[in-house]
Amino acid sequence: MDNFSLVIVGITSNLAQIKLIPTLYDLVAGGYLPKDFQVIGIGRTTYNQGQFRDFVSKTLRTPNHHHTHVIDERIEQELFAHLTYLSVDLTDLSSYAKLKDLLVRQQTPNHVFYLATFPSLYGSIFENLKSTGLADEKAGWTRLLIEKPIGSDRDSARELNDLLTKYFREDQIFRLDHYLGKETLQNILTFRFGNGILEPLMTSDHIDHIEVTAAEDFGIGSRGSYYDQNGAIKDVGQNHLLQMLALATMDKPKSMDNDSITKERVKILKSLVPDPSSLVIGQYEGYLGEKDIAPGSTTETYFSFKTMIDNDR
Ligand SMILES: NC(=O)c1ccc[n+]([C@@H]2O[C@H](COP(=O)([O-])OP(=O)(O)OC[C@H]3O[C@@H](n4cnc5c(N)ncnc54)[C@H](OP(=O)(O)O)[C@@H]3O)[C@@H](O)[C@H]2O)c1
Repeated sequence: MDNFSLVIVGITSNLAQIKLIPTLYDLVAGGYLPKDFQVIGIGRTTYNQGQFRDFVSKTLRTPNHHHTHVIDERIEQELFAHLTYLSVDLTDLSSYAKLKDLLVRQQTPNHVFYLATFPSLYGSIFENLKSTGLADEKAGWTRLLIEKPIGSDRDSARELNDLLTKYFREDQIFRLDHYLGKETLQNILTFRFGNGILEPLMTSDHIDHIEVTAAEDFGIGSRGSYYDQNGAIKDVGQNHLLQMLALATMDKPKSMDNDSITKERVKILKSLVPDPSSLVIGQYEGYLGEKDIAPGSTTETYFSFKTMIDNDR
């Protein structure tokens, strides 16, 4: 694997604490990273390197149902040897010069920028990475990883995507939604297309309807301020449920590579004919009592709708 520097914008975020820092630990433990990789964690919190290590240590030892192993101090020390904290405010352009200096000092030609921060900062970060030369690929490659949500509706998503694709090539961009990468979802394809008995029967002659249900056995937890502004449809509708629907109903891709699967997924999504009169939205009792929910909020926590698929099968 090429050596690289991973810049995590938002290393102090909730996401970094529950997923990214534990994942870095596991990658080090498994020996999956190149010998001289570097991680630069960015946040506004004022930590010196010692305080940052204490934060990482505490994070790794906080009960986390995504990460339940005992922490091995030798692995932790190995991780620390690759971690640097940069306390900057990315609304200030001079912060990018500090980041650039650090990357130059680390002498890693390849750079991955992982945005685990407020989505409202994305646009200015894309622009500033470009204008300060941080996105250039003079000596190596550059990748950009961004967390959902990308915009808050169709127009804002398009606007942000236009900005993103103005500065970065499609093969440099990774739009992340952890759920979409889950093994169970990926297995739908293996189950369908590796199954010579079931697959030929997946037609309207044999199937009346398919019901896709996302039943969660946990609440919104500490995500109240995010959730209340988005609601169930934006949180899991256009992404998780449509992904399940697409994988369950799309035609067999030419091969199992990303381009072929995406092509079939787009084709099936374009053939959906939703029935707006079937839409039901609601709010579970008790939602208004959750942390960070606006008084009297009408945000939906439940939805269902029907869609037809207009294709030959
Ligand atoms: N949390 C989840 O479970 C989850 C799940 C799926 C997707 N996501 C996505 O992941 C991203 C992060 O969400 P989150 O809820 O984890 O965020 P969060 O806890 O609110 O953290 C935001 C992070 O951004 C940093 N930050 C904010 N403004 C900054 C600035 N001007 N300059 C530099 N750093 C700045 C903060 O640093 P300081 O704290 O030091 O100020 C903090 O590290 C979002 O796109 C979210 O939609 C989160």
